Amino acid sequence: MPAVRPGTRGAVITGWGTALPPKILTNQDLEGMMDTSHEWIVERTGIEERRIGGTTAGLSIESGRAALEMSGLDPEEIDALILATTTPDRTVPATSATVEHELGVTGGAFDVNAACSGWVYGLVTAHGLIAMGAEKILLIGTDTLARITDWDDRNTAILFADGSGAVVIEAVEGPGQLLGWHLDADGAAERFLYADVGDVMKMEGKEVFRRAVRIMVDSANKSMEAAGVSHDDIALVVPHQANKRIITAACERLGIAQDKAAIVLDRTGNTSSASIPLALADALENGRVGDGDLILFVGFGAGMTAASAVIRWSTDAQELRT
Ligand code: ACO
Repeated sequence: MPAVRPGTRGAVITGWGTALPPKILTNQDLEGMMDTSHEWIVERTGIEERRIGGTTAGLSIESGRAALEMSGLDPEEIDALILATTTPDRTVPATSATVEHELGVTGGAFDVNAACSGWVYGLVTAHGLIAMGAEKILLIGTDTLARITDWDDRNTAILFADGSGAVVIEAVEGPGQLLGWHLDADGAAERFLYADVGDVMKMEGKEVFRRAVRIMVDSANKSMEAAGVSHDDIALVVPHQANKRIITAACERLGIAQDKAAIVLDRTGNTSSASIPLALADALENGRVGDGDLILFVGFGAGMTAASAVIRWSTDAQELRT
């Protein structure tokens, strides 16, 4: 249950950006492709439409560029580019290498694969690098799940989609935003959700649902305990966008009101590593986060992985940077 140790060099988010492919796939479109209905999908998942298309590198370049522009940094100032993805464009090299080249970033670059928990894994990794002396990190979460979805399988095809979200994280004097975090993985459960190399995703939906709620709640509670905060202190929960019913069940068990959850899945579907930064950007752009607010990130995914983090948002992050 890692708390951030006193004296650790801190970090703040100073910019963000998103990218979604232009092609919209609605539930009505899916009705024409398989035995399903708009009403069933909305009632059982909360998803109304999703975006599909593009490559992991292409979407990452778009969201990464937007985040860099907002932070006002030159790409050469970035010490490391972390790309959370479970759908790299190639087996070798890491897709982050392509993204780094196209953006003009000159620091290190590597991919992180922790499925839908990947962006939170990347957030924690970025803070670790900063604690060790890095100054500026570009963290991107991107997935192009449409490429590994079986479009004849109504259990999975209604859920998965493509997208990207990025943040710039910069070192600050003092404690920074991150208060507590937790990472988890359970390989014994990998049979419930997997894709072999070159194949499509296979999923036991009910089992994933059950486990998802349990591990999200467990991870979130451990992060809040590590941060020394209670569920009442949380102003905004940014959960992995898999299924509205999973988010509802997790919030209920955590004792956090539903209206504190950031939700974009109605428009995006499940974009895996991109879902949390997409929901964060939506909440920020809609003025849902104020100075000093506590944000709880919580993800789960294949593996089965879980990851969570509590940060205290600071609107004057630009002035705090070193
Ligand atoms: N359209 C219409 N009917 C459907 C569909 C569909 N797309 N899918 C299933 N049904 C039917 C079933 O056949 C079943 O019919 P029956 O009662 O006649 O047998 C009925 O609807 C209920 O099916 P369930 O499987 O019980 O439906 P459930 O409420 O569990 O919802 C779902 C299924 C949406 C897949 C849900 O289990 C879920 O969201 N699970 C979690 C999946 C998830 O989050 N995966 C991503 C993990 S993150 C990552 O790493 C990518």
